[in-house]
Amino acid sequence: MKTLIICMSVHHGNTKKVAERMARVLEADTVQPSAITGNAMLERYDVIGFGSGIYFGKHHRSLVSLVERLPGMKGKKAFVFSTSGLGTGSVFNRLLSSGFPGQLRKKGFDVMGEFECPGWDTFGYLGWFGGISKGRPNEKDLLRAEEFAKGLKAKAG
Ligand SMILES: Cc1cc2nc3c(=O)[nH]c(=O)nc-3n(C[C@H](O)[C@H](O)[C@H](O)COP(=O)(O)O)c2cc1C
Repeated sequence: MKTLIICMSVHHGNTKKVAERMARVLEADTVQPSAITGNAMLERYDVIGFGSGIYFGKHHRSLVSLVERLPGMKGKKAFVFSTSGLGTGSVFNRLLSSGFPGQLRKKGFDVMGEFECPGWDTFGYLGWFGGISKGRPNEKDLLRAEEFAKGLKAKAG
């Protein structure tokens, strides 16, 4: 399966580490959202992965606006991943979340799976104390990312 990973990793490169491990398993090409100039590029791939850190409860603005700009992607397989200081299941993130996987589904993507893990977060005053989720993603997180990618491969057939 020909896979493209679109990843934006701006804080500590946390999500990039996850993207690299998934890309290794999936033999995927990896780009930043700004590299996508039209949907013709996406049509060359069977599966598209979208990943970033979580900023104020949401995936990076560049990913969200990329998906806004895309035409209908009926049935195109996709997956979503993120790293965050608190975890996407935390009350804070859930309150602020705009539901990125839901946005993809509305565009017609068939979202095959979602992956998340902690990512070192030194935003604002957190930095005074060395931050939260220090050392994450760690090797265990990255092995989980690899397993997730293997699962996608198996699902896509
Ligand atoms: C400006 C900013 C806002 C952030 N907002 C949140 C947030 O709302 N919830 C959360 O759990 N983590 C938040 N974080 C932490 C990041 O999601 C976390 O560090 C993530 O792993 C960053 O990924 P990256 O290094 O790939 O950019 C924020 C970090 C920054 C710099």
